Amino acid sequence: MTKTPDSQVAIITGAGSGIGKHASILLAQHGVKTFLIDFDSVSGQNTADHIIKSGGESFFEKVDVSQPDQMEKAVNKCIELYGGLDIGVNSAGIAGARELTHSYSISDWNKLIEINLTGVFISMKYQITKMVANGSGRIVNISSIAGIVGLPNASAYVAAKHGVIGITKTAALEYAKNGISINAISPGWTRTDLIKNMIDDESKEKSIRLRHPTERLVEPEEIAQTILWLCTQSPDSLTGAVIPVDGAFTTK
Ligand SMILES: NC(=O)c1ccc[n+]([C@@H]2O[C@H](COP(=O)([O-])OP(=O)(O)OC[C@H]3O[C@@H](n4cnc5c(N)ncnc54)[C@H](O)[C@@H]3O)[C@@H](O)[C@H]2O)c1
Repeated sequence: MTKTPDSQVAIITGAGSGIGKHASILLAQHGVKTFLIDFDSVSGQNTADHIIKSGGESFFEKVDVSQPDQMEKAVNKCIELYGGLDIGVNSAGIAGARELTHSYSISDWNKLIEINLTGVFISMKYQITKMVANGSGRIVNISSIAGIVGLPNASAYVAAKHGVIGITKTAALEYAKNGISINAISPGWTRTDLIKNMIDDESKEKSIRLRHPTERLVEPEEIAQTILWLCTQSPDSLTGAVIPVDGAFTTK
């Protein structure tokens, strides 16, 4: 039987900003104990402080998701602190360089793949290890519309986000009999720091906004609501899915 949110424990990566921050706050508002991960200590600790001041439970640990030893230690610390792990929300990511494929530097490519793809693999690896032992769990990986379609000047980002969908589907198959549901969300352009230099004046914002049939940007709260639903309310049979929250961008 699904546990009530107030007896659950979540690890959220990228919790210092944007989608990860909004998801952490919303999960905590529903009683979930939130173990926050980010490589930016200031913003990560700010999210934890905000949750605690609002009456929720939260702990921040500085971790680079591309470093397996740091992630393994953090997952163990979460278990020591809160006694279990029910939910993994893997949101940490970077936008990376914007270059045509032939101009994309090898070091920019490697850095982006290490964080946006290998970081999700590493996060899932240690989260799933605990969830298999428990016989239950829910994981939500944040992919992108760039995981569904190509986007010019973003070959590494597109490759990583397609990869996130691939490992989400594969892990969903592997752990379907272990009571672990694993899904991905593919947001459209979402109003966060990740795209702030793409929307920092009115004409740039309008051009991004109008790419969506809804003619508006996605708000991080909308992704957080979808994460909350997937982690605490969706049916157990919903696993291996990719849910676009993109104002119908990928429906066109
Ligand atoms: N904003 C968008 O338009 C959009 C659209 C689709 C998908 N996404 C994806 O959503 C996720 C969250 O992005 P966001 O928009 O909230 O961006 P954001 O920049 O607001 O937040 C990303 C967070 O991840 C953290 N982070 C980055 N690299 C890390 C690392 N190696 N280890 C630990 N933490 C790290 C950052 O410090 C930051 O707090 C990303 O995976 C991003 O690719 C964003």
